[in-house]
Amino acid sequence: MNEWAGAKGARTRIFCGVRPTGHLTLGNYLGAMRRWAEVDQYRADALFCVVDLHALTVEHDPARVRRLSRQAATLLLASGLDPQVCTVFVQSQVDAHVRLSYLMECTASDGEMRRMLQYKEKAAREERRGGSVRLSLLTYPALRAADILAYGTHEVPVGEDQAPHVELTRELAVRFNRRYGATFVVPRTVRPPVAARVKDLQDPASAMGKARARTSGVVHVLDEPAAVRRKVLRAVTDGEPDVSYEPERRPGVANLLEVLAACGGGEPQRLAGEYGSCGALKEAAAEAVVEMFRPVRARHAELAADPGQVDAVLRAGAERARGLAEPRVDAAFEAVGLLPRG
Ligand code: TYM
Repeated sequence: MNEWAGAKGARTRIFCGVRPTGHLTLGNYLGAMRRWAEVDQYRADALFCVVDLHALTVEHDPARVRRLSRQAATLLLASGLDPQVCTVFVQSQVDAHVRLSYLMECTASDGEMRRMLQYKEKAAREERRGGSVRLSLLTYPALRAADILAYGTHEVPVGEDQAPHVELTRELAVRFNRRYGATFVVPRTVRPPVAARVKDLQDPASAMGKARARTSGVVHVLDEPAAVRRKVLRAVTDGEPDVSYEPERRPGVANLLEVLAACGGGEPQRLAGEYGSCGALKEAAAEAVVEMFRPVRARHAELAADPGQVDAVLRAGAERARGLAEPRVDAAFEAVGLLPRG
């Protein structure tokens, strides 16, 4: 334990990020945002960050990144994050992330970065498209580690897919502390109790992802109710008329049952017994999603009509984040042998 980790009476600090690489989805909402708003912001000193720098690791359109960053921040607030209770901010407005990222690049090895599965997959995809692979895609885990370590984060609540990155972050923190003295808290991953892993409605073998080119299987939080219904009613199942909860054999039906359960509470297994046909299950799931998103959409519309208010929240959030991150990052700079700032 180092000095920060051991601070008596200190509240648990958690850090979560969302990447503005597409419109936020039902997967982001059920797997992350809802729990952030209902539980995490109250149980800890929580920082919620729109990690916009991470949107630049692949080819991007500047206007789109700008639009999606603002939209993501607005949606975080609309989903119930209360700026009086937690800190909501945009990564690029806090320089400490980039400063510390460089030190993480000086701590990690080339091999470690190249081994990350996400890099291998995305680099292969970019190459297939004939594009070049940005160096930042390779070094992305260093920035990600910096996001977490700059804040003395104790817990990072993430889904299965993100766990290897937190593992690397832990290794970098331990290595840095061993080389240069206790500087960073070694964070741990926490899995949400019901780890909703929402699948693409058209491809239930894959997660519902916001950056997918084909969006007919991806429900966005801001989709019109009619679009939500259309997507859910057209979800791929398996041609069997009845409903049963068998995630391995019937992934499409299981996904709908899990979504319905996550929206309204209840157990997928038990819900399966309540529906006589896949059609009825789809109707119920569609309504549940529409109803769940109704207040979020309404609040988003209110906030979007007053962008000055959202900007003010983000400014205050960035200021608090800077105050938390800078002393630790300054200490890390000194620890590696750089002259003090002044
Ligand atoms: P991102 O933007 O892909 O996802 C944000 C959050 O949403 C969850 N999530 C899902 N949950 C259930 N089902 C799905 N289909 C689904 N899709 C996404 C993710 O688990 C995540 O909690 N690399 C991160 C952003 C990041 C970050 C960080 C996170 C950058 N630095 C530091 C934590 C700590 C990402 O791409 O998240």
